[in-house]
Amino acid sequence: MEITKKSEGDVLALPEANSGGHSSIAASNLTPNQIVSLLDKYIIGQKDAKKSVAIALRNRLRRQHVSDDLRDEIMPNNIIMIGPTGVGKTEIARRLAKLARAPFVKVEASKFTEVGYVGRDVESMIRDLVDQSVAMVRSERSEDVREKAALLVEERLLDILLPPLATSRNSRNSEATSDDDSSESAVADEHDKSLEVNRRSRKKMLERLRNGKLEDRLIEMDTTGDNPGGMMQIFGPLGQMEEIGGIMQDLMSGLPRKRKKRRVSIAEARKLLEQEEVQKLIDMDSVVKEAINKVEQSGIVFIDEIDKIAAPSSGSGGKGPDVSREGVQRDLLPIVEGSNVATKHGMVKTDHVLFIASGAFHVAKPSDLIPELQGRFPIRVELKSLTEEDFYLILTQPDNALIKQYSALLRTEGVDLTFSDGAIREIAKIAARVNESVENIGARRLHTIMTNLLEELMFNIPENFSDEHVEIDEVMVKEKLNHVVADRDLSQYIL
Ligand SMILES: Nc1ncnc2c1ncn2[C@@H]1O[C@H](COP(=O)(O)OP(=O)(O)OP(=O)(O)O)[C@@H](O)[C@H]1O
Ligand SMILES: [Mg+2]
Repeated sequence: MEITKKSEGDVLALPEANSGGHSSIAASNLTPNQIVSLLDKYIIGQKDAKKSVAIALRNRLRRQHVSDDLRDEIMPNNIIMIGPTGVGKTEIARRLAKLARAPFVKVEASKFTEVGYVGRDVESMIRDLVDQSVAMVRSERSEDVREKAALLVEERLLDILLPPLATSRNSRNSEATSDDDSSESAVADEHDKSLEVNRRSRKKMLERLRNGKLEDRLIEMDTTGDNPGGMMQIFGPLGQMEEIGGIMQDLMSGLPRKRKKRRVSIAEARKLLEQEEVQKLIDMDSVVKEAINKVEQSGIVFIDEIDKIAAPSSGSGGKGPDVSREGVQRDLLPIVEGSNVATKHGMVKTDHVLFIASGAFHVAKPSDLIPELQGRFPIRVELKSLTEEDFYLILTQPDNALIKQYSALLRTEGVDLTFSDGAIREIAKIAARVNESVENIGARRLHTIMTNLLEELMFNIPENFSDEHVEIDEVMVKEKLNHVVADRDLSQYIL
């Protein structure tokens, strides 16, 4: 019941645990403040948006501690993020899902309008979410049983390399009945001896196996062939068809799989056998159960380009697509509102799935969405255009900053790449300028500028380059890019 106060210490240590463990419970304990500071590691600025998503996430946890009767009444804080392209909308949602360890899918609302409105049915997003959740839980469980599976695999490899002798009961039984027959007991002795030898060689073999001395040796083993269902394709434009495909595949996977003999190295065999053993150790029924529960309690659906399905009120109207746009909104409504969606893993309730929608809303406005849908997205946050100063920080601060990425890439070639502060300032300045003069594509501009700036270097390493250290300075940036920036046409094409 209590929102464990004492665990605050552990919670702070979470970012490290994020990459591999399975502390989903601890992860959901993050306070809004902590969520924002974790997001700060990757996203510069956009305080309001970070705050809103942090609150929405925390409210889900709070809701779980509310008494039963009221709990179901509490609706998720669905959010619409409004802002120009490339300012961090998707990035915020993606990072949020990651740190919450929640099942997450990103869909483009406009996809549902393609092919005259039958592009993909809207419910498919929930099916994808469940699939994603199943994969997530399954991989968590795999981690849990990995050690156990590895031991079983060792045993199986040993069995292939040195089959164990049968500890034949018969000889013992016959020994008991014909006690005085000395030749019988001699045979039994012989048998015991070879058993002992076998046991010892297996032990030695196991040591060699563990020391990695046998990894390249080839062995013959049974491998499971492809899932027969895998060969089957279900054609059809409708979402229903996908569903049928899924069901068929489930049915087919129940059929015995073809096994065939193959020669593989021990290293490869280890991998194959490990998959098999892990699969056997995992209880898929309970995985699915947990996965569905995860979706219902903590799933996040990110609907991008929601503005594309809003009909601009000022437009001339009466055009064909508007009807289908509104149709998509009407289709979205029950899902966002909360309904049961049939998936191949079972029914899923969407009542408490968190929906984060986003769009530039250049032409249409949030108020152009149908009122019912607007009501389902009560929180609006605006993301700001990025400034030169933001670009400077984006280049240097985040854990995944572009400059860090490029340095890491070149370090693999033994080249130490650094940027002078002046150079970074200059890149930021150019990005801001090109965004202003050509088109504002936000932080994505930094990618195009960096690839241009570093193209030659990237091409010439390793053959035509002998220095161990390159420092990009302001002069180099200017030399390489200023003529492009000055020429509007040129920058339109290459930046
Ligand atoms: N505020 C920011 N801080 C750090 N990186 C950012 C920021 N904004 C954008 N980026 C980087 O720019 C790229 C594009 O950002 P993102 O995908 O979030 O854009 P978006 O706002 O979703 O745009 P669109 O409307 O086109 O979908 C990403 O690589 C992201 O890392
Ligand atoms: Mg986006």
